[in-house]
Amino acid sequence: MIFISLEGIDGSGKTTISKMIKNNLIQKGHKVLLTREPGGEPLAEELRRIVLDKNTSITPWAETLLYVAARKQHLESIIIPALKEGTIVICDRFMDSTSAYQGYGRNIGMADVTELQNIVLGATKPDLTIFFDITPKEAQIRLLNRKRNIDRLEQEDQKFHEAVYEGYQMLISENSDRIKVVDSRKPINEVLQQVDFLIDNVLSERMKK
Ligand code: TMP
Repeated sequence: MIFISLEGIDGSGKTTISKMIKNNLIQKGHKVLLTREPGGEPLAEELRRIVLDKNTSITPWAETLLYVAARKQHLESIIIPALKEGTIVICDRFMDSTSAYQGYGRNIGMADVTELQNIVLGATKPDLTIFFDITPKEAQIRLLNRKRNIDRLEQEDQKFHEAVYEGYQMLISENSDRIKVVDSRKPINEVLQQVDFLIDNVLSERMKK
């Protein structure tokens, strides 16, 4: 039915809020699947474990292909069947993460990553992508306050995270119809209100069709 992806740099708060978004939609009577990338499905979760393992050494292109392989598996076995059933799918990260992190952050090239994903993913793209905006500096502070261990990507230096943020800004300006920005530095209830507004708009547009 409707496919929503959530994007942002590490520490942007999107994962915490994703559960609240799901609950709000369920309360409004919708069928909702909240899933994540890399992951959301047994093989893709296994690829997540490998790609985020701090002890694994992976070249930039191999890293790109692992993320895209996990995405293809997840898309075909979980996302597309759910959309066909009329479920609202909320995915914590999707194709824009690969463009920002690998395309820009790892210097693979945004155009090459877009071409690869167009070939591999086909026509199923998010109807709405919400970018949780927070500066890399603020995000870093949030990450340092976290209790859990940081993963292979999170442990990258500040320069990498700044490049990823820049990559996202390029994606936002090139896809302004699809990618909407919310201010993730605001109190969580205000962020949630901004998100609900965006989702309600997409749902009511869909009803008109
Ligand atoms: P998460 O912490 O949001 O679950 O995401 C896992 C990490 O993987 C995060 O640092 C972002 C990174 N990532 C990529 O580099 N490329 C991708 O395509 C995806 C989905 C995630």
